[in-house]
Amino acid sequence: MMVSRLDINVKDGTTMKAAVLEAFGAPLSVRAVPDPQLGTGEVLVDVAAGGVLPYAAEVFNGQRRYLLRPPVIPGPGAVGRVRALGPDATRLAPGDWVLCDPTIRSRDDALAPDVTLQGWTARGQGGLRLQTYLGHGSFAEQVLVPTENAIPLGPIDPTEAGRWTVLNVCLVPYGGLLAANLGAGETALISGSTGTFGSAGVAVALAMGAACVIAPGRNQEVLADLRHRFGSRVRTVQLCGDEDTDRESMKRVAPGPIDVVLDLLPPSAGPTPVRAAAMTVREYGRVVLMGGVGLLGGDDLALPYPWLMRNSVTIRGQWMYPRHANTRLIELARSGLLDLQQFDITEFALDDANKAVTHAANDARRFSFTVIRP
Ligand SMILES: NC(=O)c1ccc[n+]([C@@H]2O[C@H](COP(=O)([O-])OP(=O)(O)OC[C@H]3O[C@@H](n4cnc5c(N)ncnc54)[C@H](OP(=O)(O)O)[C@@H]3O)[C@@H](O)[C@H]2O)c1
Repeated sequence: MMVSRLDINVKDGTTMKAAVLEAFGAPLSVRAVPDPQLGTGEVLVDVAAGGVLPYAAEVFNGQRRYLLRPPVIPGPGAVGRVRALGPDATRLAPGDWVLCDPTIRSRDDALAPDVTLQGWTARGQGGLRLQTYLGHGSFAEQVLVPTENAIPLGPIDPTEAGRWTVLNVCLVPYGGLLAANLGAGETALISGSTGTFGSAGVAVALAMGAACVIAPGRNQEVLADLRHRFGSRVRTVQLCGDEDTDRESMKRVAPGPIDVVLDLLPPSAGPTPVRAAAMTVREYGRVVLMGGVGLLGGDDLALPYPWLMRNSVTIRGQWMYPRHANTRLIELARSGLLDLQQFDITEFALDDANKAVTHAANDARRFSFTVIRP
């Protein structure tokens, strides 16, 4: 039986400040909670910045039906400095800057570990069990993460800690593009390219060396902004909502066959635009599904069996990303291949956590990110 560390009522001992989701639908309450207690196999991190996703409000009001058990400190991922280490860390040292990966995997099944996204959601009952041990997220002065989830960032300018949390967003499409085995010189289509994760996906695909990124969307202004930011390697397509027309438009704008399609559309989009995009892929192409179709009910995605079979298409689902993606993406950013300066960062103090959540929802622009700086 796992020990529950979720009790955040102050009894005795030292305390820290955190934003607590007491119940779905309640505002976050910023209050004192017990300091996290370091165990073997863990790293205690002083949080410098934690990102607030545009749909955080929908998670906190219960609309997204995420597997999260209030009362809980929410917040998936962070940038901070190591405060203390367990005895099993061989390279990290107190004071090191780290990226905290919220993807926590159980350690007792190497092939199919249970997964919880710290301070956010979980996969199934196993993920929930893990959450009873390491469930609290980063909207706090300190966060406790498994040792392997504290990824060395190298020296950074402390005033730029918020900007580095953008890596927590970029890691999602990076996971999809790694799953698709995107190679330099290939053409990738990012379905949902005007959204939070999709637009990050455009930047990441270019950083990985895609010769061309096809960026479909419905809003002309937003598409123009993508072209303006990235130049001729990005080709935008305005969607009209008719599946066949949209599929042909996406194919037409591509300089050649489309090697990879990454879907990052939200649940509300339904399966039609997902299928329109997926079926632009070339023979022997790869399609990775990371979006939300079906997560809140509605029609499922149907793809024609003969098309899949005759064209030898690979379809793959992907949740999050492998551990090594963290280190690789940090290097893409450090080398300048992934330019984090593309992102506008708006910062809030921990006391203003609710304002940060509202701001993130109202400011759901591409390349704009809200962070809390405890
Ligand atoms: N698999 C994973 O590991 C993982 C991790 C994190 C998030 N996600 C998922 O990623 C998905 C995207 O999240 P997000 O926050 O980036 O979403 P988002 O910001 O809401 O953006 C999605 C984009 O979808 C487009 N869109 C919406 N309805 C459409 C339609 N009917 N036809 C065509 N385009 C449509 C919109 O573009 P236009 O208005 O310009 O058309 C919008 O910019 C979510 O489902 C989320 O759950 C997956």
